[in-house]
Amino acid sequence: MSWVELKVRGLREEADGILGIELAPLAGTLPFTWQAGAHVDVQVEGGQVRQYSLINRPEEGCVRLAVKHAADSRGGSRWLHRQVRLGDRLKVGTPRNVFPLKAGTGEVVLVAAGIGITPLLAMYRECQRQSRPVRLWYFVREAAQWAFVEQWRNDAAVSLISGLPSSAVIDRLRGELPAWQTDAQLYTCGPEGFMAAVLGLAGERGWPAEALHQEHFQAPKAASDPLPAGQQLVLARSGKTVELRAGESLVAAAERVGVSIATSCGMGMCGACMTPVLGGDIEHRDQYLSEAEQGSGQWIMPCVSACRRGTLTLDL
Ligand code: FES
Repeated sequence: MSWVELKVRGLREEADGILGIELAPLAGTLPFTWQAGAHVDVQVEGGQVRQYSLINRPEEGCVRLAVKHAADSRGGSRWLHRQVRLGDRLKVGTPRNVFPLKAGTGEVVLVAAGIGITPLLAMYRECQRQSRPVRLWYFVREAAQWAFVEQWRNDAAVSLISGLPSSAVIDRLRGELPAWQTDAQLYTCGPEGFMAAVLGLAGERGWPAEALHQEHFQAPKAASDPLPAGQQLVLARSGKTVELRAGESLVAAAERVGVSIATSCGMGMCGACMTPVLGGDIEHRDQYLSEAEQGSGQWIMPCVSACRRGTLTLDL
């Protein structure tokens, strides 16, 4: 992971509990670019790393993020909301995109809840730039939580919906979500239950799995079984073998024998630790790999995933 220091050039309350942060290069131009749907790692208090979607286009010459002050914050959003000031410097990683807008000309359907609007905002703007048909549904609990909303008040392609109880959200969408048409793609971002309901409804409307895309903001609840112990982890290129301890991640086990695996989120979401597998019975616990990638047995996210039994051999 390479990091670049950027300066806080703007801070703005985008909505109740949502802080807009604009980051500019210290000098010259940004050393990276990105596509709609990308996110960056940001170093927060104590060197912890958090991921935030990029809501703007690189041509603007700055990075714009929107950070929700999470009630259950593990420190990242609370620190950004309370401590960061204009002129401060933040370390930002090179953008990664695990939620890309697929190329095509078919309609793009975007369904956001709460802070899940951030990657979809970038996608909406990109579709407009490409003159690609796009529809956006944006749900919030209360109108005060709507971010970036002024631009959409008179936009017939955007449905702004607030104040519905969770049980009524999908009913509302049921009356409006179009049936799938060739080359159409649907992207959703929001709480896990919301996304599951959106994708379920889309499935009823004939949307095929390959046209449905979701982005997770939080790691799913930990697997109920603790990481198993006693299996052998073989690091083929390094010529090292280590026995896994109970509850120990593969990353930590490799570290014990001097093999370092680069990580970022540590939650199976960002892709930083993606490692090729040479053999073994993998228990995938990540949100990053697609079903097909998991099924192939060729890749593992060793920050969270495990070896079910026997020996797991990694190309490290
Ligand atoms: S460190 Fe992010 S997926 Fe493993």
